[in-house]
Amino acid sequence: MRGREHWSSTVGFVLAAAGSAIGLGNVWKFPYITGVYGGSAFVLWYLISVIVIGLPVILIEFALGRHTQLNPVGAFRRLAPEKPYWLIGAMGVMAGFIILSYYSVVAGWTLNYLFKAVITGFKEYHSPQVAGEAFKAYITHPVKPVVTHLIFMLLVILIVARGVRMGVEWINRILMPVMFFIILILVVRGLTLKGVSPERSAFQGLQFLFHFDLRQLNGRAMLTALGHAFFTLSLGMGAMLTYGSYLHEKENLLKSALWIAVADTLVALLSGVAIFTTVFALGFEPNKGVGLIFNVFPAIFSQMPSGEVVAVLFFLLLLIAALTSAISLMEVVTAYFVDERGWERKKTVWVWGTVIFLLGIPSSLSSGVLANLQFLGMNIFDFLDYLSFKYLLPLGGLLMVLFTLKRWKIASFLQELSRGGPNWSGKEKIFTALLVLSAIFVTATFVAGIWGIG
Ligand code: PHE
Repeated sequence: MRGREHWSSTVGFVLAAAGSAIGLGNVWKFPYITGVYGGSAFVLWYLISVIVIGLPVILIEFALGRHTQLNPVGAFRRLAPEKPYWLIGAMGVMAGFIILSYYSVVAGWTLNYLFKAVITGFKEYHSPQVAGEAFKAYITHPVKPVVTHLIFMLLVILIVARGVRMGVEWINRILMPVMFFIILILVVRGLTLKGVSPERSAFQGLQFLFHFDLRQLNGRAMLTALGHAFFTLSLGMGAMLTYGSYLHEKENLLKSALWIAVADTLVALLSGVAIFTTVFALGFEPNKGVGLIFNVFPAIFSQMPSGEVVAVLFFLLLLIAALTSAISLMEVVTAYFVDERGWERKKTVWVWGTVIFLLGIPSSLSSGVLANLQFLGMNIFDFLDYLSFKYLLPLGGLLMVLFTLKRWKIASFLQELSRGGPNWSGKEKIFTALLVLSAIFVTATFVAGIWGIG
């Protein structure tokens, strides 16, 4: 058997992990849930969640992965063979299947809109009504969203099949710098837009994001912010653990984790700035839910100066963000079958990539022919999204924290953390306190969110 593949350099690893973190969650979901929950108070809670829980969990995942050099199931099995802790990993691999199946559907929408942007520049979409109807016609179509979902999954499969270095690392090295560049252009464009009237300006978009109002914060908003912190950092299902397992020991895990968390948060905030300055300057409403980007933006692009160019850049940004995240979801599934089941990589990626495509078909039809297929009052797409980001990921993260406290032990965790970085031994107390705090934080938010307190 060949040895495990490793990242070729720190930069390659950090870009890949940032690529996983920065995804549709940042550019599509963060703006729309911020809109739904009314802006800044939600943003603040999200930032707190990233610091209090995101950072500890990302460190745990990196450390578990690098220490065991294994996939999520294998990692827990190696450290605690006598108890079914591996179920935490198994839940992660399952979450990989579930999330990628519907994630790829939205990614397919962005692909479709990128084509449209290139071909028509959204010229005919002069109002949100027209754009909204066109979007509806597309997502309720019995074939089109399945085809774009298929094309996107093929891209993911082709890249992941090439391997960790030649596939995952290679594509992130190319696309991540492009992505940062596009975001900067969009932020500058948003900030320099002239408002349509004295009451509507780009500045109001900034106010909406950053003006603080505690009254808007309730239990549901808090659970959503918590779930989003996990989702946006790719935590709680072993994606970061898997990427950590391709690391050599010389890496400084804390430094890498900080880079990734900062880059991810920055991209979410900058996307928020680009999107809300544009929405407000052009006199639109921010609270349009899931469809904000697909309903409102085409209309915006058709009216805005240099809208054709901005439209292409915008949907290209979404596509890149989606692709580099989807790759990490596929990598979790792949690592499991390669490590634990001894499958060959190419075969794994093609077989399970196809299965994920098939699993995603109901989601891609969930606004159209399968709209009546309901779970807890949601269509299958919304249900899977709800299940994974509000429950599976926070639960997975909580279990990882508890595993580290109870079974793996803080001292072993700190020993792993110290390899390739500053020495953390002797800091057991502080780290225990931090992990206990984050466990309490997750549990409390769960309770608050589920009972709808606040
Ligand atoms: N972090 C990705 C995003 O923000 C989504 C993701 C979740 C990727 C979990 C991998 C694992 O879009």
